[in-house]
Amino acid sequence: MAGRLAGKVAIVTGAAPRGEGVGNGMATAILFAREGAKVLLVNRSAERAGKLAHQITEEGGTAAVYAGDVAKEEVAEAMAKDAMARWGRVDILHNNVGIGAPGTPETVKIEDWHRVIEANLTTTMVCTRACLPRMKQGGGGSVIMVSSIAGALGLMGSAGAVAYATAKAGLHGFTLSVAADYATQNIRANCIVVGSVHTPMVASMGDAARERRRQMVPMQTEGTAWDIAHGAVYLASDESRWVTGVILPIDGGLVALRAWPR
Ligand SMILES: NC(=O)c1ccc[n+]([C@@H]2O[C@H](COP(=O)([O-])OP(=O)(O)OC[C@H]3O[C@@H](n4cnc5c(N)ncnc54)[C@H](O)[C@@H]3O)[C@@H](O)[C@H]2O)c1
Repeated sequence: MAGRLAGKVAIVTGAAPRGEGVGNGMATAILFAREGAKVLLVNRSAERAGKLAHQITEEGGTAAVYAGDVAKEEVAEAMAKDAMARWGRVDILHNNVGIGAPGTPETVKIEDWHRVIEANLTTTMVCTRACLPRMKQGGGGSVIMVSSIAGALGLMGSAGAVAYATAKAGLHGFTLSVAADYATQNIRANCIVVGSVHTPMVASMGDAARERRRQMVPMQTEGTAWDIAHGAVYLASDESRWVTGVILPIDGGLVALRAWPR
């Protein structure tokens, strides 16, 4: 397939959405494939990832499934090996896995704290560790982190979300560190700060909360997973060959215009 990612091999973690609809990982995997990348869909659920692989191959793209829990270092290593065995290189790692849990420092359950740190930070760390040597071997690469406005602005509300905000903010430091350490090796690291997009991850949010969330956005519209995926294609492609260490909000202006009257 010709396209902006032609000839590249991409790994998308958490590619299949948790429920009906289009998640950030799903939209990104679809656009990567439409732009010509061969895409390894990594997910705990082989069944949901299989459904997405079918959808991608039906429209002429190339995708395969790797099932496993990427919080485990040996699974992350096996995932990178699988991509190498199938397609001989790893050019793009899209670290999409992430979960949240409610709670302030006083109320968050300690097991939730560890679970959220592991799902957002440890997965990103071990998957990046597994892919970097393969990217070096191939002459370069693009590592993309998936953060949240919670990591940039904090997250308030009666339930709080200190674990999520802390983990996502950690990804910003991780991004800068990888960008600095690998700049001379043509490996770029950038981070998308996801705004208020409507995906299966937030499907349980009631209509009133959804409307409140929309009104907080300076552009006064809700985002979709496709808005995130278009940014990911840019960061994955050679069009961004001179872009590294960037923390990029895709959020209708929320982070940039935080003093916007509301
Ligand atoms: N939807 C939003 O409003 C929003 C806002 C800000 C940030 N984000 C971020 O977007 C990313 C997720 O987007 P999505 O829409 O694809 O979410 P999703 O939850 O629908 O899909 C993620 C998939 O990852 C899988 N998964 C979770 N932990 C895993 C692990 N350890 N190993 C393998 N697979 C695992 C889940 O089973 C799920 O299928 C997260 O990093 C999230 O924090 C989302």
